[in-house]
Amino acid sequence: MIRAVKGTHDLFGSALAYHRTVVEATRRWASAAGAEEIATPIFEHTEVFERGVGQTTDIVQKEMFSFSDRGQRSLTLRPEGTAGVVRAYIEHGMKVRPQPVRLWYAGPMFRAERPQKGRQRQFHQTGYEVIGAAEPEVDAEAVALSWWILADLGLQRLHLKLGSVGDAADRARYNAYLRERLEPHAGELSEDSRRRLQTNPMRILDSKAEADRRLLEALEVRPMLEFLGEAARKHFEAVQARLRALGVPFEVDPTIVRGLDYYVRTSWEIHHELLGAQSALGGGGRYDGLSELLGGPPAPGVGWALGVERVALAMEAEGLSPAPSPGLDLYVVPLEPELVPRALEVAARFWPELRVQYALKARKPGKGLQEAEKKGARFAGLLGPDEAAAGTLTVKDLKSGEQRTLRPDEVKEWIRGGTA
Ligand code: HAM
Repeated sequence: MIRAVKGTHDLFGSALAYHRTVVEATRRWASAAGAEEIATPIFEHTEVFERGVGQTTDIVQKEMFSFSDRGQRSLTLRPEGTAGVVRAYIEHGMKVRPQPVRLWYAGPMFRAERPQKGRQRQFHQTGYEVIGAAEPEVDAEAVALSWWILADLGLQRLHLKLGSVGDAADRARYNAYLRERLEPHAGELSEDSRRRLQTNPMRILDSKAEADRRLLEALEVRPMLEFLGEAARKHFEAVQARLRALGVPFEVDPTIVRGLDYYVRTSWEIHHELLGAQSALGGGGRYDGLSELLGGPPAPGVGWALGVERVALAMEAEGLSPAPSPGLDLYVVPLEPELVPRALEVAARFWPELRVQYALKARKPGKGLQEAEKKGARFAGLLGPDEAAAGTLTVKDLKSGEQRTLRPDEVKEWIRGGTA
């Protein structure tokens, strides 16, 4: 048997219903805030992510699905959405529109991580980006939307962790501090973190390795927040004030480091209490400078992405059901073999106003009704020689048991009344 590739999943049934519920909630809130939907390609030139997400990140160093096209150009399945959206903003000259431009998206992302609960190689995100504004209001707007969408889905066991990674100069000072502090203990660090000490010491704070965690604790390493410059500090305070005014509950987390290099200033994650190791349902931050990294004009931005599968896991853990997909309105049953083609015609006449299926084999009335019930239909329509001759259908309401022989327009009216 050929199976789906490790770390990838088929979406159908209730998994797809959860999926759709998350995408719909994102669509509702993002459009309410005036965002336009965008769908960028699922693969890009590799440099979009190398430059955007950053050479020293785990994503670029070991998690990208990259391949060469026929002209030997390196392409990569997108590990995240922001770099592609900013590439599109630049490419389509969105800078000339009234700023900021608000965009939202939903789609698959790809990371070659070790699969485990809440971590796949193909997963899905919904995301929101505000590009072309540096004001703290848009940071607060973005944070609040990410929170409200999750709350709107009914989730309660949530924690919004808000931090700031400062401006580039602040980060340089912090990295210098970390290097100075950690270099004498390099031998005690994990191999990954020894490498990070050279390339990007802040990444060490994100390490899950036991040795690294112990060392960081023992050395009482100071958090990034203590290294914020004046401008970043003021911005961070303003964002917090706006969030308080909007009634969004957050915790300042001085240790927050995100896994992508493009962030400056505001960064946040929303965690769920019941999800264990992979508890981040979503995260985001400000990325002033990303547009320039990708060869575009200055265009400060801020945004977030939610991990759709993780949100679904969290909903399940809290006993929340997705919006159910609507069932069949009518199941048409031919009572004679030669009436099967007519059953198709009858069913098709109701599409797309009603959801209608038909049996491909003749059935006795009793068996036909049973089958209709099994399919979850609300009504069954029996099509015998009399009905075929008269152009009618004998329709039975499977809930009340009421039965009527009706013309198609009457069937439509009855079913609509019955399901409204
Ligand atoms: P991120 O934190 O890398 O941010 O990913 C956002 C969310 O995607 C995570 O919180 C998690 O729920 C989900 N996720 C990430 N990796 C996996 C995986 N392997 N399996 C399942 N779910 C996963 C970003 O991607 C940024 N682009 C967010 C952003 C938008 N920042 C600014 N604008």
